Amino acid sequence: MGKIVVPKAPTDDFVGYEILVGFMKERALHSLEGDIVEIGAFMGGGTIKLARFARKHGRRVYAVDNFDPSSDRTEDASGVRMCDIYRALLGGRSLEEVYRETTRGFDNIITINQDSQKVRFPEEQRFIFGFIDGNHQPEYVVNDFYVIWPNLVSGGALGFHDYNHGLPQLTEAIDGLIAEHKDEIGEVSEIGDRHIILLIKR
Ligand SMILES: C[S@@+](CC[C@H](N)C(=O)[O-])C[C@H]1O[C@@H](n2cnc3c(N)ncnc32)[C@H](O)[C@@H]1O
Repeated sequence: MGKIVVPKAPTDDFVGYEILVGFMKERALHSLEGDIVEIGAFMGGGTIKLARFARKHGRRVYAVDNFDPSSDRTEDASGVRMCDIYRALLGGRSLEEVYRETTRGFDNIITINQDSQKVRFPEEQRFIFGFIDGNHQPEYVVNDFYVIWPNLVSGGALGFHDYNHGLPQLTEAIDGLIAEHKDEIGEVSEIGDRHIILLIKR
């Protein structure tokens, strides 16, 4: 196993959710009907950034996480497992307790404490934006796409983290989804330096 390097840069989330909120603002996604969903909330630092934006526009954020820091054993390019990074960051704290503390006071966050493979939204639930950063195994990435995509409105966006970021099977799975759904995708936007790819639904 390689040396665990705790991610630098954003201190309160891995992704830098300001970028995601900026994207929603730039594209005026709040002019569409629906809520926001994320799969993989971790400590909730990104969740509350989504929730602040959502609150301004009277929307909810659905946050899906199994709060089990041991469940994702995917190895990064240097052989470090995701679960070891999460445990190092938590330093013995309970992930769910940290998340609950971070998100306290946000009554527009709906937390779904479940394995994403068990999550499906009712047909009438609409989303304007979704973000996938849960388990990094390709079968989860594919599952998570199908949790959100059917409920994403036309003009809405679905993003993935870790695209082209040392997890070739994950990148391949996303490329496969893009190819398979090309007729339903109006635009693909990659934010290369943040390893984010966003699909805008036609
Ligand atoms: C990389 S972290 C998310 C980081 C977060 N997006 C951020 O930027 O702060 C991945 C999260 O996915 C969660 N996770 C892993 N496997 C999952 C599964 N099968 N279902 C739901 N959540 C899962 C982990 O508990 C962890 O909190």
